Amino acid sequence: MEKELDWGNLSFGYIPTDYNVRCYYRDGKWGDIEVSQSETVNLHIAATALHYGQEIFEGLKAFRGKDGKIRIFRLEENAKRIIDSAKGIMMEPVPAGLFAEMVKKVVKLNERFVPPYGSGASLYIRPLEIGISAQVGVKPASEYLFLILVSPVGPYFKSGFKPTNICIMRDFDRVAPKGTGRWKVGGNYAASLAAGEKAHSMGYSAVLYLDPKEKKYLDECGPANFFAIKDGRYITPASESILPSITNMSLMQLAQDMGIEVERRHITIDELAHIQEAAACGTAAVASPVGEIDDIDTGDKYVLSADGQPGPVTTALYNKLRAVQLGDEEDVHGW
Ligand code: COI
Repeated sequence: MEKELDWGNLSFGYIPTDYNVRCYYRDGKWGDIEVSQSETVNLHIAATALHYGQEIFEGLKAFRGKDGKIRIFRLEENAKRIIDSAKGIMMEPVPAGLFAEMVKKVVKLNERFVPPYGSGASLYIRPLEIGISAQVGVKPASEYLFLILVSPVGPYFKSGFKPTNICIMRDFDRVAPKGTGRWKVGGNYAASLAAGEKAHSMGYSAVLYLDPKEKKYLDECGPANFFAIKDGRYITPASESILPSITNMSLMQLAQDMGIEVERRHITIDELAHIQEAAACGTAAVASPVGEIDDIDTGDKYVLSADGQPGPVTTALYNKLRAVQLGDEEDVHGW
């Protein structure tokens, strides 16, 4: 690195690293893993990724521990999820073994970009798959590129582990009721941009979407899942339109380990009046505490943090998750 990175002040963004890894699916099989120093891809002008949105991705992180060891958090779960996403939009699934081999390879090749222990930063790993063969009719591609890039990152929300405000807006849906919400499809994020930018312009960090069918239940929270603490219980929406977050799954397990009851079920908007804490959770967001939820359409305001501090249960869960990811605490689940 020409210039040492300011590890403690990284934001969630793209920083060029030394290498990315690539693998092509052609003639009915995956080829050899290629190591690249190029930051661009060369695409056919009729590639299905460009015309019909055949693009899926993943997000996972590598952490440097106090012992200097690098740990990648739950990569097998991301391998499973990208297979589901591929099947969801008719792409060729990347075999789990190939996914794991490429993730480990790209981290090893960019080892010097894994932030030091204590910096609060991590190496974000972004696998993606695109349809690359030429197709003008609306049909799946016959050829695919699977690529993994990495970037050292800090907190997703600028405030770090400090409560931010989110809002409910009924004019926007992220996905259709039986659409692509449960898969990590680039188009879901494109569909969230207008609402997200509107929320940002109004001073909110994210939109708390409602279920797209009845607009009655809580759904995804911006690019993350949502959980709340209600009378000491961890509650999180069950919905066929939200992405099954690996962080949320991990937090539910950690909550149970801590003796906290977990409920994954429909959560109505009315219940917001009876919760004590809330957070957005995901690989990028980790567990980002929510200070206030404003319903733009009704004017209702749900204040969860009057003193600007995260709640005790969210803090305990965040600390526990971080400790496991960094290797500070014994990894009893083999994550
Ligand atoms: C993640 O949490 O890894 C995500 O993919 C969310 C967002 C940054 C797109």
